[in-house]
Amino acid sequence: MNEYDSVRMTDVVTPLGYRRVESPEGADLVILNTCHIREKAAEKVYSELGRLRALKLERKESGKHMMIAVAGCVAQAEGDEIMARAPYVDMAFGPQTYHRLPEMLAKASRAAGVPLVDTEFPFEAKFDFLPSNSMSQGATAFLSVQEGCDKFCTFCVVPYTRGAEFSRLVVEIDAEARKIVDGGSREITLLGQNVNAYHGLGPDGAVWGLGRLIQYLAKIEGLDRLRYTTSHPRDMDAELIYAHRDVEKLMPNLHLPVQSGADRILAAMNRRHDVDTYLRIIDNLRVVRPDIALSSDFIVGYPGETDSEFAETLRLINKVGFSQAYTFKYSPRPGTPAAVLKNQVPEAVKQERLIALQQLLSAQQSSFNHATVGSELPVLFERKGRQTGQVTGRSPYLQSVHVKADDALIGTIAVCRIVSAAPASLEGSLIKAGTSCQPLLVSTSKQVDA
Ligand code: 5AD
Ligand code: SF4
Repeated sequence: MNEYDSVRMTDVVTPLGYRRVESPEGADLVILNTCHIREKAAEKVYSELGRLRALKLERKESGKHMMIAVAGCVAQAEGDEIMARAPYVDMAFGPQTYHRLPEMLAKASRAAGVPLVDTEFPFEAKFDFLPSNSMSQGATAFLSVQEGCDKFCTFCVVPYTRGAEFSRLVVEIDAEARKIVDGGSREITLLGQNVNAYHGLGPDGAVWGLGRLIQYLAKIEGLDRLRYTTSHPRDMDAELIYAHRDVEKLMPNLHLPVQSGADRILAAMNRRHDVDTYLRIIDNLRVVRPDIALSSDFIVGYPGETDSEFAETLRLINKVGFSQAYTFKYSPRPGTPAAVLKNQVPEAVKQERLIALQQLLSAQQSSFNHATVGSELPVLFERKGRQTGQVTGRSPYLQSVHVKADDALIGTIAVCRIVSAAPASLEGSLIKAGTSCQPLLVSTSKQVDA
């Protein structure tokens, strides 16, 4: 989401004469787009700001000005604290006000030295005021369809920093998707903090869910692949599950965070689903799309988590079999209900559980990758590889695939034979360039009980 927001911020300042540069040295304006989800991410902002301060001073010595802005959720949550801790920052603004950047820049340069903080959740909707998405994002692009969250998991800052759930209109999303495809992208990942809670107004005046939106966007010519992230188990409705059967362009991969495999912890987290519900969703997805690759987020050491509850998480992982995962030690976040609980888990225990979790999940990722060796997969090439003469792309299952081939393949889909698997990537050889994007599509007419 932050990557997408950064693209949109660039869109906002481009008409003012700014252009994106590759490094902060020599820049007139530096915007740090920040994340508040865990303490480590938030603290990183202050060390980055220290580096920028030195650059700002250097620039001042040569008689030039560098404006420093802090955007995103750290600014939203700690705008005033940033100004107190780093008084050389010119502005701080949250994720819901960046469409006001031109006014903020004008104000900040008029009143140089007077810090400006904008952490409102404005009445006007940000998307109504943003210029249309014009920056090419390359072979694969992000598109925000939904923002915010009303779920209030007890560990999470998102409902406070991103605000209430909001869905964009279908026509607006469709227009942006078409622009993105015209700009050369072949794949779009629909974004939202709770993307499958999407409930936007359709062109027929009815409220559409994500499944229907995906069906609609799949009609765009030149768009070959669709993905969406991040989903909540509670919002995995039948329409969305069936989209995985019916929409060829929807890639066979789903990120569905579960956080824990213990019902008591899920209830304490206010996740609003239990283990059985999660497993039933996975079963239903596999009925309609047997080859679907599943990834998830896990938190270890939530307050009060016992050894046996942690063991239940390992059991759930063994039952599901994930292709990839993100693992986190619980990090108390200011203002969230879990942060003030007395029974915090000691750091050493969190660390031990994290290692055990990562070992199991890495083994699963590795076996998922090895299972694709020998198969032929369509790969969407995104960029040059690390080695010369190599290009890197993604399989339908979101695996990184490195292939020795010409750069001209970037931005295209080509069928590759997977020749070997490393723990987190694949090596392939080019079979056929310029062919259809479809993986080994499995179709079934079975019904699901979602
Ligand atoms: N501590 C640790 N992990 C967290 N996440 C969200 N809040 C916290 C926290 N306080 C993780 C969740 C979520 C992912 C984006 O970040 O697993 O799904
Ligand atoms: Fe945070 Fe996701 Fe829970 Fe919303 S559903 S509160 S974004 S973890």
